[in-house]
Amino acid sequence: MSDENQSKCRAVCLISGGGTNLQAIIDNIKDKSLKIDLISVISDNPAAKGLQRAEKEGIDATIFDFSSFEDRKQFDQCLEKEMVELDPDLIILAGYMKILNSSFCNSFAGKILNIHPSLLPKYKGLNTHQRVIDNQERLHGASVHFVTSELDDGPVIIQYQCNIENNDDRHTLQKKVQQGEYIIYTKAIQWFSEKRLSIESGRIYIDGAPLNEPKVIKHD
Ligand code: GRF
Repeated sequence: MSDENQSKCRAVCLISGGGTNLQAIIDNIKDKSLKIDLISVISDNPAAKGLQRAEKEGIDATIFDFSSFEDRKQFDQCLEKEMVELDPDLIILAGYMKILNSSFCNSFAGKILNIHPSLLPKYKGLNTHQRVIDNQERLHGASVHFVTSELDDGPVIIQYQCNIENNDDRHTLQKKVQQGEYIIYTKAIQWFSEKRLSIESGRIYIDGAPLNEPKVIKHD
């Protein structure tokens, strides 16, 4: 680790797929708009394209191939053990498709962030873009939240909002929402790394003040 990195927030990123959020984080670290030390990228999926993105930048990339473990319990224990050894300040879930168990969430309480492609608490789970279209919603977006052991739960820090136009389909919506994801995730990670963002007793604080509503950035 270089001297420059010594006081930086040490982050680990968990991924399962394409890793475009990971790429945005890497790009922002490179252009210095995000001042964190990304010490490791871990994937449960050996085919995750995000692994190549990490390797290309010389970031330690580790595979915990889910299919090679005896059962879910063994996988969970190994992942938690690895994380305890890495001892990061922050765990960034970026398209990580496994639900973290309560032991993991408790061990790293207040240190895990996730990004979800909907305006939480609406549309937890999968296929959010199609579901908002099917329900004729007019507004959609993405949310960054602290992670608890409940799926896509946990207090929301910041949201990106965009209108759903008549000609939008799930592909155009995904593209629109992901552009916003890169912006709000970087903001939340940077706040956390500067110790401006925290969670205490389930309540979010930004710059020492409780956050009653998520911050919102609107698509222009
Ligand atoms: C994003 O849409 C994110 O909101 C969700 O998973 C997707 C990951 O995409 N949690 P990518 O792997 O970062 O491209």
